[in-house]
Amino acid sequence: MKNFEFNNPTKIIFGKDTIEKLKEEIPANAKVLLLYGGGSIKKNGIYDQVKTALANVDTTEFGGIPANPEYEILIEALKVIKAKNITHLLAVGGGSVIDGTKFLSAAAVFDGDTPWDILSKNIRTEKGMPFGTVLTLPATGSEMNSGAVITRKETKEKLAMGGPGLFPQFSILDPEVVKSIPQRQLANGLADAFTHVLEQYMTYPVDAKLQDRFAESILQTLIEIAPTILKDEFDYKAASNFMWSCTMALNGLIQKGVPTDWAIHAMGHELTALYGIDHARTLAILTESHYKYNFEAKKEKLAQYGERVWNINEGSIDDKAYAAIEKTTGFFKSLGIDTKLSDYTNVYEGTAEEIAKRFTDRGWLGLGEHQSLSPEKVKKIVKMAY
Ligand code: NZQ
Ligand code: ZN
Repeated sequence: MKNFEFNNPTKIIFGKDTIEKLKEEIPANAKVLLLYGGGSIKKNGIYDQVKTALANVDTTEFGGIPANPEYEILIEALKVIKAKNITHLLAVGGGSVIDGTKFLSAAAVFDGDTPWDILSKNIRTEKGMPFGTVLTLPATGSEMNSGAVITRKETKEKLAMGGPGLFPQFSILDPEVVKSIPQRQLANGLADAFTHVLEQYMTYPVDAKLQDRFAESILQTLIEIAPTILKDEFDYKAASNFMWSCTMALNGLIQKGVPTDWAIHAMGHELTALYGIDHARTLAILTESHYKYNFEAKKEKLAQYGERVWNINEGSIDDKAYAAIEKTTGFFKSLGIDTKLSDYTNVYEGTAEEIAKRFTDRGWLGLGEHQSLSPEKVKKIVKMAY
């Protein structure tokens, strides 16, 4: 096992009817900016619950943060923060609203002229404006981590940011919110969390037995609950397991002491930036190609995952590893998610070259657990995913 440090300061408040606990988490004299997305919270009752909890708090609202939160829109919110002397932020939404809020938490205390530098120059935030979240969509884990991904529409860029100052102070996780989530987003949430675990597991063995079993147990739980989650009928027990699995998949715990990959995400963010494909679906497009291309380096963990998660007990390491890749693609398909780029767009020629060029320009010359995935290799993997 590798050496590690672990500090996750986010307080989790989990369970039914917990949104009302908001009032205990926000200081009475705070000036709050409540941030939300396209308006789903106004239809499903979450907005009303939040407003009731904040009845005695000085609150300003900023709605309209789109999926894949956009820099230009967030800059409008930053103006509100400055004009109204806001002291606390509250994200009510999925990964996009929470990530947008993290950007604002950083931008509110940033002393440079151009907040985009936080992303393009990868400036870490040591202490941001305090913020909390009410999670409405289990998927990204953003509610309990310190990372964010922000899009700039005009340049078709999607870049990551973060730092120890960007953990939410608290996150409220009420599984009841799952009731109103459309099928497409439920499938996305399952696939995103599943891939988060894979990115932190599918590398090479370092005999980190507990981390491996943490990861395998999250994968098994997601596989087990997926059919119930996708049914029209709401199931609170399945929703609870779904929500906590998504949070645990990316709150930092399972990656401690083990090598991590994250190349699928790096390539996937480019597909969203170029074509607007949902984040989770970009991962489903790239996973099989990535694992086939890097088969030799990853086959031991692939075979272990095949045995322990998919009960593949026959054949050699290679046989089990191949079968495990097929099972993974089958899982995405069982969620109704297509796994080839050409399923989403018919103007994909040149995509691989464009992504390889962007990585070269940014100096991303060696991704993955061995820092050996060059732009040339990225090009081949993306082509395999056409
Ligand atoms: O905008 P509203 O009206 O709220 O509707 C949203 C949106 O259209 C809707 N929705 C959310 N909760 C709902 C609901 N609809 C009905 N009922 C509810 N309870 O779902 C749609 C998608 O929301 P979004 O927040 O975009 O989805 P998700 O949580 O999947 O977030 C995706 C974003 O997170 C980034 C992705 O790149 C993408 O930009 N990621 C963030 C990560 C992180 N911070 O750690 C890691 C991830 O790998 C990912 O990159
Ligand atoms: Zn993701």
